[in-house]
This record gives sequence, structure tokens and C-alpha cells, in this order.
Amino acid sequence: MTASKIPQHVAVIMDGNGRWAEQHGLPRIEGHRKGTQAVKRILKAAEDFGVKNITLFAFSVENWNRPKLEVAALMQLLESFLKEQKEQLVKREMRLRVLGRTSELPRSTQKQLRKTEQATQTFNNLTVGLALNYGSRTEVVDAVKAITLDAQEGLLDLNELDYEVFRQYLYTKEMPDPDLIIRTSGECRLSNFLLLQSAYSEIYLSDVLWPDFDKAEFGAALKAYASRERRFGKTAQQLTS
Ligand code: IPE
Ligand code: IPE
Ligand code: MG
Repeated sequence: MTASKIPQHVAVIMDGNGRWAEQHGLPRIEGHRKGTQAVKRILKAAEDFGVKNITLFAFSVENWNRPKLEVAALMQLLESFLKEQKEQLVKREMRLRVLGRTSELPRSTQKQLRKTEQATQTFNNLTVGLALNYGSRTEVVDAVKAITLDAQEGLLDLNELDYEVFRQYLYTKEMPDPDLIIRTSGECRLSNFLLLQSAYSEIYLSDVLWPDFDKAEFGAALKAYASRERRFGKTAQQLTS
């Protein structure tokens, strides 16, 4: 694969933990636990393939509607994952950025997230976006509110407002828009994930459940991406001439 065909930013909807657990006769949380191992594998794979930005959808604003026990277990799992991975992130010079309404997360989780973000903020080997309490609609509404305030205070001239300016108000402002979105577990929807940023993303759907997703599957997604022709509104002839 030539370097130019490697996506700069891959975003992943990590789906299928619950079904994996069910298939193995285990409680749902065991599927989530197994899912964290897949996260480690995919971070390593992204590093190996030379992907510079990866965003992982870990918890949506809608996921609060799950049973209380599952939500609590997910938060705990996340916290211990971060504690355990902080050293690795530093060692491998990976930068963590959290995308979402973090103020609504448990205090201890917020603290762990802040610590990890601070400890990794100068690194640029791989930027890892962790979408947590993330919802695209909330993100856009928050951005519009912030833009309105800035305009009222004279900090922003609305005549200058275009997408490049608008995107500076999104959680993903420090990352390029995703070139490739992967969703596992065979579902074919975006579930309120990066709706604006995915305007021109290539989408890859895998039938594999997230806990089984590995480097080979990730490689297959990158290969499919490399074979796609992105036109951005132009004709195919324009691209070859
Ligand atoms: C994805 O797996 C993880 C989260 C949404 C937190 P699911 O828990 O949605 O797994 P399924 O869809 O029930 O199999
Ligand atoms: C999307 O998965 C959210 C995450 C992967 C964190 P869901 O399993 O919550 O999505 P729906 O509800 O099936 O659309
Ligand atoms: Mg699901």
C-alpha cells in the first residue's frame, strides 16, 4: 500500500460487544472487557500501518439509556483501561484527545481523562480520539451556541463563517476529518457519529464483532479504502487527467 493511500484519520464504531458475549454465554460486560483488548490491538495496528489519527467511538450520548449496571461497569472499565494504558501511550508517544461532553461523566473518570490528556499532549506519533458521551447532534448544537456567543461578543465575524471556521468549534478541531469510517458487527448505520465530519468519508462495514476485530481485519479495511476512488464532486475523468 503506498503511503498516500493510507488514510490520515480512521474513525471506528466499535460495535458488537454484547452479541459477542451472548454468543459465548457470558454477561455483556465480558464482551466490553474483551473489546478493550481489541482496542489495544487496533492501536498497535494503526501505529504499524502509519495511520496518524484514529477515533474510537466508546460511549454515545444515547448509551446512557442502557441498564444502570452496564453503564456503571462501562465507566469503570474505561477508567481502569486509561490507568493501565497511560504509560503505554507516553512510551509510544501517542496523544489522547477526548471527544464529547466530558462534564457529564463521573468525576473520577473525568480526572483520569484529564490526567492522560495532559500527560500525552505533546506527542504526535498517533492521535487517539476517544469519543465518550459523544453525539454528533449535541456537538453541532454546542458549536452553534459557541459561535453565536463569539459573534455577539465581536470575536467572530459571521461573514467569515464557512466550514473551515465552523469545524474549529467541533470536538474534532485538532484532527482532520475522517477519511475512513469502519463499523463492526454488520450494522449499517452511523448512530449519531461524526455526521458532519463524515461528509466525504469512505465507509467500511465489517461483519466481525468488535472483540474479534484484529490487525488483519483492520488491514482489510485499509486495503478496501486504498481501492476506492474519492471524487469530492468531480467527474472520474477529471481525476485521471
Ligand atoms: C459496542 O457494543 C459498545 C458500546 C456501545 C458501548 P454493544 O454493547 O453495542 O454490542 P451489541 O450491539 O449489543 O452487540
Ligand atoms: C454505537 O453503538 C455507539 C458505540 C459504538 C459506542 P450502539 O450499539 O450504541 O448503536 P445502535 O444503538 O445499535 O445504533
Ligand atoms: Mg451495539
